[in-house]
Amino acid sequence: MPPVAENDILIDRGASSGGLAGVRGDFPIFSRSFDGRPLIYLDSGASSQKPQAVIDALAEHLRDHNANVHRGVYALAQEADAAYDGARRRVAAFVGAEPRTTIFTKNATEAINLVAYAWGRANVSAGDAVLITQMEHHANLVPWQVLCRERGASLRYLEVDEHGELSLAQLDAELARGDVRLLAFAHVSNVLGTINPVAEMTARARAAGVATLVDGAQAVPQLPVDVAALGADFYAWTGHKALGPTGIGVLHGRAELLEQMPPFLTGGDMIASVDFQQSTWNELPYKFEAGTPPIAEAVGLGAAVVYLERLGMERVRAHELALTEYMLERLAQVPGLRVVGPPTAARRGGLASFTLEGMHPHDVAELADRAGVCIRAGHHCAQPLMRCLGVSATARASVGVYNDRADIDALIDALNAGREVFGL
Ligand SMILES: Cc1ncc(COP(=O)(O)O)c(C=O)c1O
Repeated sequence: MPPVAENDILIDRGASSGGLAGVRGDFPIFSRSFDGRPLIYLDSGASSQKPQAVIDALAEHLRDHNANVHRGVYALAQEADAAYDGARRRVAAFVGAEPRTTIFTKNATEAINLVAYAWGRANVSAGDAVLITQMEHHANLVPWQVLCRERGASLRYLEVDEHGELSLAQLDAELARGDVRLLAFAHVSNVLGTINPVAEMTARARAAGVATLVDGAQAVPQLPVDVAALGADFYAWTGHKALGPTGIGVLHGRAELLEQMPPFLTGGDMIASVDFQQSTWNELPYKFEAGTPPIAEAVGLGAAVVYLERLGMERVRAHELALTEYMLERLAQVPGLRVVGPPTAARRGGLASFTLEGMHPHDVAELADRAGVCIRAGHHCAQPLMRCLGVSATARASVGVYNDRADIDALIDALNAGREVFGL
């Protein structure tokens, strides 16, 4: 790839930071620079940056309250218990769920695997079908592939149309076939940005007696989410995209289903009693939390949701919607650039995936990096979707609470500079 000329980027943050002005100051990473350039982070879809409040909560827990949970009688262990259980209450309340049915996992991937193994192995048999969509992240695709292969079930896909949307008519037709046991789909697509009509889809599935799992990994960080109102049987998400630490994910489940399900992982903490040949299981949510859980990570996620609540999720959504509108408008001005997914920002989350004629997405991302702009390039863990789109990869810019219009301007300047380097 040819070298790019060094050109200093002047960032005018002026009055352009939208509804969340000043928020960037809460994120210490933005005091960093790379080769004298400020950090312009447009990859929150991959992982968000962390506010000081989360860093402090993690450090304070490890410094002052660290002990294992659910086993100590001494005061320090009880502080750790209170911190872990308090984090669960906060996280559950943040999305309108009950603490008892809110299970901490390692990430969204593990939350979905938990359902695929514990619910799937007990409920999907030969001749049944699992219905997912062409826009799924591998985390909500491969576990169903493996389950279906193992059980002799079929895996079917709802198609994505040219605007990156699903068809409710196709959903109805699939449900009418009578063999679908589970409908699993993303709340917000990590490639197309599409916001799926979750409540309508879960209602249709419920009417057909079909269980539902929603992958909320991209939704919880940027939309007001009310798990109870959405009506899914299972709702999975991940902490590190929602301003929290890595190593913590969440599964909300319907109590009746969680109670009927066998455990996923077994060992310490998830049992009520153990004899030489058999064991009985702990109550919810502990039945699904084998071994020492991610205690400090849960505390960090608790601080993250408190931070997001203070910002207000309606404001977060409004901020990211306005930025996405601006991003789509500016990207449309770059010759040869094609954005995939819904044409209007109102139908999408805060991201845009695109191809640029004459440049491979990896070159686009590398040239952007030379201008200090972090974007993602690749298949975004959605290879089947890439095939449907007729591309092997895209570049993706995704926004967070700390971004503003100046970040988008810097991306556009970097794209235009990249085109020049390529003689386009
Ligand atoms: C839509 C979607 N689902 C699931 C995941 C998996 O999240 P994690 O890697 O934290 O398990 C991601 C991460 O990129 C995602 O974007």
